[in-house]
Amino acid sequence: MLLSFASVLLTTQLVLGASYTQSDSHTGIGFLKSFSYQAIPDPTHGRVNYVDGFTAANDNLTYASGDHFVLRTDHWTVLDPNGPGRNSVRIQSNKQYTTSAMIFNIRHMPQGCGTWPAVWTVGEDWPNNGEIDVLEGVNDQGPNQATLHTTPGLCSCPYPHASMNALLDDCDTFINSNSGCGVKFVDTRSYGPIFNDHGGGWYAMERSETGISVWFWSRDAGTVPWEVEVGNEAVDTDNWGEPSAYFSNTECNMDSKFGPHNIVINLTLCGDWAGSAYGDSECPSTCVDYVNNNPWAFEDAYFDFQWLKIYT
Ligand SMILES: *[C@@H]1O[C@H](CO)[C@@H](O)[C@H](O)[C@H]1NC(C)=O
Ligand SMILES: *[C@@H]1O[C@H](CO)[C@@H](O)[C@H](O)[C@H]1NC(C)=O
Repeated sequence: MLLSFASVLLTTQLVLGASYTQSDSHTGIGFLKSFSYQAIPDPTHGRVNYVDGFTAANDNLTYASGDHFVLRTDHWTVLDPNGPGRNSVRIQSNKQYTTSAMIFNIRHMPQGCGTWPAVWTVGEDWPNNGEIDVLEGVNDQGPNQATLHTTPGLCSCPYPHASMNALLDDCDTFINSNSGCGVKFVDTRSYGPIFNDHGGGWYAMERSETGISVWFWSRDAGTVPWEVEVGNEAVDTDNWGEPSAYFSNTECNMDSKFGPHNIVINLTLCGDWAGSAYGDSECPSTCVDYVNNNPWAFEDAYFDFQWLKIYT
């Protein structure tokens, strides 16, 4: 009797675990209040110079108005090959999150040869608190890839769903040149010029004790759940259907691998991944030379966020 009561309670709790209430909502200038600029050297060796908030505002590298928050790279300066990289922006949320769901409503993402945009979450003292890459890619080569990076051991990616396209399965940052364990999405609208041609869409990430899920719905997919489309006050991830990428706690010790995370939005150029993949991307010249000499090629290298809502 007691036993079955306990198991009913447990079941109820698991179901409730997928319901969340909105804790933060960022639109337009709201992004500037809740994120900080990080004028740091690019740890991935990109041909960028991350600027501070003053320079970003002055040069219109970040721009907020109405429901637009735009983040871009300089697209007018020819660079001195011996000088710093192209001015760009990296911002980090002031708040940290653990168990949560977040929805990014994005109209446009940076495109162009040499670009390496990312929307991701990361803890302090990398890689000790883990990294979750929600939206990431290089040189316009889609579809999107969602990736985890962790300390060694106890974390790999199982892919129970045939539709998920596992790349490498060990999330350890110290092997495979820090490729992490990634899942390439199936929907080609999830990245780059094709994403932009369709008006962008919604990215969502849920992180709980049972696992990490990432969803994507194209603007014109017609399948986006209503609560995601409008950024409802309350959401239940059980209504969101099968994620595009799923990392289960049966293969990864979520508690020990992932600590409190900040949200980071960055746009780098060339560097470890975009630079090494450049030759296979049908892009002209070499990555660094292209970035130095062709500012006009970065006119479309910008994010335009409609909103970001976070649920805990
Ligand atoms: C930019 O984002 C990617 C996300 O995967 C990250 O690996 C890289 O370190 C970031 N670079 C900087 C300087 O933010
Ligand atoms: C700044 O960028 C925004 C977004 O791209 C654009 O609408 C605006 O006209 C720009 N402002 C200036 C002064 O160039």
